[in-house]
Amino acid sequence: SRNGVAILGVFVVDLAFRAGNMPAIGETIAGSGFAMGPGGKGSNQAVAAARAGAGVTFISRIGSDAFGDLAIKTWEAEGIRPRVAKTAEAPTGAAFIYVHETRGDNAIIVVPGAAGGLSPADVDAAADAIRSSQVFVTQLEQPEDAARRGLELAHAAGSITVFNPAPAIKFDASLFALCDYVVPNETEAEALTGIAVSDLAGARRAGDALLAKGAGTALITLGERGALFHGRDCSLHVTPFAAGKVVETTGAGDAFVGGFAAALADGADPLEAARFGSATAGISVTRAGTAPSMPRRAEIEALLRE
Ligand code: RIB
Ligand code: NA
Repeated sequence: SRNGVAILGVFVVDLAFRAGNMPAIGETIAGSGFAMGPGGKGSNQAVAAARAGAGVTFISRIGSDAFGDLAIKTWEAEGIRPRVAKTAEAPTGAAFIYVHETRGDNAIIVVPGAAGGLSPADVDAAADAIRSSQVFVTQLEQPEDAARRGLELAHAAGSITVFNPAPAIKFDASLFALCDYVVPNETEAEALTGIAVSDLAGARRAGDALLAKGAGTALITLGERGALFHGRDCSLHVTPFAAGKVVETTGAGDAFVGGFAAALADGADPLEAARFGSATAGISVTRAGTAPSMPRRAEIEALLRE
């Protein structure tokens, strides 16, 4: 029988620096804060889904080093089942994250390290977990051919497939037909379609373009404006949830995807699941960090009831 969420993706250690401005080339500036913690889009989504109550399997590659140890500790603490290969050939990845000191928005350089070597063979090694999942999720921080294999296995087995095409890099359009849900943010939707997503009308046009490419439903996240759930026979605005002062928006998209996947795996109707994802993201931005900022199920449910 089917159960839970299987997520293929990357773990990296996030090194977050808060400052007023980005330094220019050749310049050194003093920042106002630093934090190190677990990150990587796939792993963040796994943490969000697990805290939201789903049984989660995470498929990846890490190095044999201290950052890899932090990955294992993180998954253990969250009750996530790792199907993760350890390699001595490459280090566990890291991300440089600049966080604007007052606005809380960010700019990121991510180096996937060992997870950059994820291959279709690694995905095949976890085929049982993918095929038996209720919901399968992947992104594009690891190589496209690994993402494709995961989507193919899940799609063929009848799992619900959720594809978060992040970061915004080019990929073969044939992937869309494997996606029940494609979940880009504004920037990614614009990169994929060439259509500016600066308001709901733009998001609808981009959504149409994503459906024309073969996606089942486009779910475009819109930052503080919530999201657009754009299917073949309904297009609805998913309202944002303001849960307090915004501290850091890094990982909000991951919170959305993880919450959405957990709710789908729990049997929620897709629109309800999107609202659940939106509430998950709304809480995550009120806290520093990425994975550490993911809320627990009870908090999400309380916000949904408000
Ligand atoms: O989506 C946020 C994540 O992207 C960060 O945790 C960072 O690791 C980058 O991969
Ligand atoms: Na956060």
